[in-house]
Amino acid sequence: MRIRASELEKKGRLVKKDERYEVYDIEMENLVLSMTKLFPGKSTSGHYHEDSEEVYYFLEGEGKIKLGEQEYPASAGDIFTVPKDTFHQVINTGEQVLKFMAVFEKYEGRGTKLKAIIPAAGHGTRFLPITKAQPKEMLPVLDKPVIQYVVEEALDAGIDNILIITGRGKRAIEDHFDRAPELEQFLQEAGKLVQLEEIRRISELANITYLRQKEALGLGHAVLQAREFVGNAYFAVLLGDVITMPSCMNEMLEIHKRYRASVIALQEVSKEETKKYGIAELGEELDTNVYELADVIEKPEPEEAPSTLAITGRYILSSKIFKYLAEGRRGYGNEIQLTDAIRRLIQEGERVVGYLYPGRVFDIGNKLDWMKSNIIFSLEGDCGEEIEKFLESLGYRKG
Ligand code: UTP
Repeated sequence: MRIRASELEKKGRLVKKDERYEVYDIEMENLVLSMTKLFPGKSTSGHYHEDSEEVYYFLEGEGKIKLGEQEYPASAGDIFTVPKDTFHQVINTGEQVLKFMAVFEKYEGRGTKLKAIIPAAGHGTRFLPITKAQPKEMLPVLDKPVIQYVVEEALDAGIDNILIITGRGKRAIEDHFDRAPELEQFLQEAGKLVQLEEIRRISELANITYLRQKEALGLGHAVLQAREFVGNAYFAVLLGDVITMPSCMNEMLEIHKRYRASVIALQEVSKEETKKYGIAELGEELDTNVYELADVIEKPEPEEAPSTLAITGRYILSSKIFKYLAEGRRGYGNEIQLTDAIRRLIQEGERVVGYLYPGRVFDIGNKLDWMKSNIIFSLEGDCGEEIEKFLESLGYRKG
C-alpha cells in the first residue's frame, strides 16, 4: 500500500486521543507504523519496550526525545533508534504540533482500550448472616453499595467496558445498575428530581455486562470466566468488595503504560495477617513505590511469608494468565487461586510489577473494615459534623 506521510492521519486507525496527543496506527502482521501528533508543551507518557527495538522518525515541529538518561533535540528529518528496554519519551518544546512516526513490533493489547472485570460471585461467608440472601457487594457504605464505588473507580480511570462476574443470589447487583422505569416515573411525578437524576445516572454509568460463575470455585475461576470478553489484551481486575481511597486504578494504569507489564497493588499488613492474603516477594526497585515482583504466594503462614506486603484487590493482568487459570489447578482452600496463576506468570518470565499503594484500602468482606469505611465516609459526607460530635461524645478526638 502506498501512503504519503501526510495521509497517515486519514489512513491510520485512531488508537489514542487526549489533551496531549493523537495517535494513528497502521498495522501489519508483526509491525506497527504509528504516527503521533503531540500538541505544544505536551509530552508522551514515556515507556519501555521490553522485547523489541523501535525506530522514531520526526516529521514536523520541534522537540526533544529522552532516551534513558539522555535528552536529544529532535526535529523534522531526525531518526532515532531505541534499543530494547530503554525508557523513551518525546517532549514538544515548540509552538507547533510535533509529528513523529514510530515503527515497532506489535505487542499485547496495542490500540485496544483496557477492559475491567469485577468479580462479585463469592459466598461472603465472613459476613453471614447478612450475605445469606444479599450480595456483600451491595452492602451500603454511607449511601452507596460497595460495588458502585468500584465501578466508579474503573470509570474514573477511563475504563468503561466492564464485566461483572456474578453468581446465584446476586441479582440485586444487576438491578442496581439497570434502568428502573417505575421508580423513575414515581420520582418524576413526586417532583423528587435530585433523586431521579441520581437513579438515572447510576444506570447510565458504564457499559456493564454480566456473566455468571456457576460455582464459586475461587477468584481465579471467576476471572477465567472473562477470557472471551478480554481477548488478547491486558485487563484490569477490581474486586467487587474492595474500596480504595483515593482511587488506586488511576496510578496503576500509569505504571502499566510505563512498563507495559502486569501491575498488582500491594499494602503492608501485620506479620500475623499474612495467612489471610496473597503475599508478594519484591525484586528490583523500579521507581518510588514500584517494584519488580520476584514471587507471590497465597495465604502463607507468617513464618513462610516472604514479606508483609499483601495483594489488595486491584490488578492489571496480561491475558497470558488465562492459560494458567484454564489448567484448573486447585490451590489454597481447594480453590483456583488468582495468586497461583500470577506466580506462574512470573515463573515463565513475564514482568509483573508491584505498586505499594499509599492510600486507604477497605476490604468490605470483613466486618471491621466495613464499619471503618462507613465511619470514614460519613465523616467526609453531609452529616460529617454530626458524626464527629457523636464520636466525640463517645470519647473520640479528631487527629
Ligand atoms: P473473597 O476472598 O472475599 O471470598 O473473594 P468470598 O467467598 O467472597 O468471601 P468469604 O471469604 O467467604 O467471606 C474476593 C473477591 O472475589 C470474588 C468475591 O465476590 C470477592 O469480590 N469471588 C471469590 C468470586 O467472584 N468467585 C469466587 O469463587 C470467589
